[in-house]
Amino acid sequence: MDKKKLVVLTGAGVSAESGLGTYRDNGGLWDRYDPMEVASDRGWRRNPGLVLDFYNMQREKLQTCAPNAAHKAIASLESDWDVQVITQNVDNLHERAGSSKVLHLHGEVTKVRPENCCNEADGFSEKFVRDVGYGRVSLGDLAENGAQLRPHIVFFGEAVPKMQEAVQMVSQADLMLIVGTSLSVYPAASLYGFTQPGTPIYIIDPADVNTGSRGMHHIKKTAVEGMKDFIEILKSK
Ligand code: OAD
Repeated sequence: MDKKKLVVLTGAGVSAESGLGTYRDNGGLWDRYDPMEVASDRGWRRNPGLVLDFYNMQREKLQTCAPNAAHKAIASLESDWDVQVITQNVDNLHERAGSSKVLHLHGEVTKVRPENCCNEADGFSEKFVRDVGYGRVSLGDLAENGAQLRPHIVFFGEAVPKMQEAVQMVSQADLMLIVGTSLSVYPAASLYGFTQPGTPIYIIDPADVNTGSRGMHHIKKTAVEGMKDFIEILKSK
């Protein structure tokens, strides 16, 4: 029999217990950096060196972090479920924990591309996207087509090319789990609204969340503790 489809939407909170900071919690990344300077299309045009440095720092930090028990628990669900992870995170911790189907809505920090590629004009082709691992990228580092390399990240002000694919996945879910996201960045925050009516939705987050009109079940714990509860809930079904 085909496995049922579980769609897991994750945000920065799932990686918090790996040592990666979230964006909007007290002391989070956006407390310390202005996202419009380091992570927006205008910021890139104004000061690409600053943007490159910000993501060099993210890569350096990621190299020191490992997947936590929540990433591993999500991967382990693949034995019973057809699990599709949709992550807003630009880290690679789901892949390193063993998840086999991961869609990165906001890009991947370990990848780069020429600044003139993967846009509306070329249909968001990823032909020139390259893996840079945890390496640094500097002004003057050029792609094979001669253009400056930039992070393969969806900057504020840019389209989210994988959104349609993500909507399709969510609309086919038998069950949806959301972990560690403030649901404040659109269009990602609207995804759960594309579940079929009656599809159960669980959200794991230690903070109060707006459980929306779809009546989500809130597991008010950190990702690691909350995943233990979620797995117990699945066993009892
Ligand atoms: P936020 O920083 O907005 O939200 C993090 C969420 O994680 C909050 O709801 C926290 O309560 C929760 N949280 C904190 N610690 C946790 C833990 N140990 N376990 C579980 N949850 C925890 O991060 P995102 O919602 O992911 O975009 O932000 C969305 C997007 O905004 C990011 O992808 C990024 C950012 O700007 C880009 O960079 C394009």
